[in-house]
Amino acid sequence: MKTNLKSILAFSTIGLFTIGLVAFTSPQTADDWEVPAKYKTMKNPHAGEDTDGIGEDLYKQHCRSCHGNEGYGDGSKAGELETEMRDLSSNEVQAQTDGELYYKSIIGRDEMPNFEKKIRSEEDRWMVINYMRSLKE
Ligand code: HEC
Repeated sequence: MKTNLKSILAFSTIGLFTIGLVAFTSPQTADDWEVPAKYKTMKNPHAGEDTDGIGEDLYKQHCRSCHGNEGYGDGSKAGELETEMRDLSSNEVQAQTDGELYYKSIIGRDEMPNFEKKIRSEEDRWMVINYMRSLKE
């Protein structure tokens, strides 16, 4: 009886430890990137515009190094990243609302940098989103 109880305890400890370890080390996936509701429904006040190619210029300056020219995730820095990037021209990315793309692009998380300081103008931020829309295939 005594040994039984001990082994039950031992097994549950190992079990819990394993579950904890798996939960802790399993990589993040693009699907579990929760966007706060207030961003999801945010309206793009400049939908469809790319004044003087500002969006394209900013994309080339800040985003291309990782996401690549066409958004495929094949930029020059892509090889140094641990997080997988989804193809920005793909349906999965393009099906999201402008607000969702804004949140992911400007606020970011982990290896996707935050651009609040680098792209300060609200209008410029939307121009980048509009440019990303033009990458759609
Ligand atoms: C240092 C490399 C790097 C740079 C520079 C970068 N990104 Fe990213 N980006 C990433 C990585 C890595 C992910 C995946 C993040 C994740 O899923 O946790 C990502 C994800 C995204 C996503 C989410 C796509 C999806 O899965 O829904 C968008 C949108 C995005 N980036 C836009 C941009 C824009 C716009 C810029 C420039 C203003 C930019 N990124 C600059 C690395 C970068």
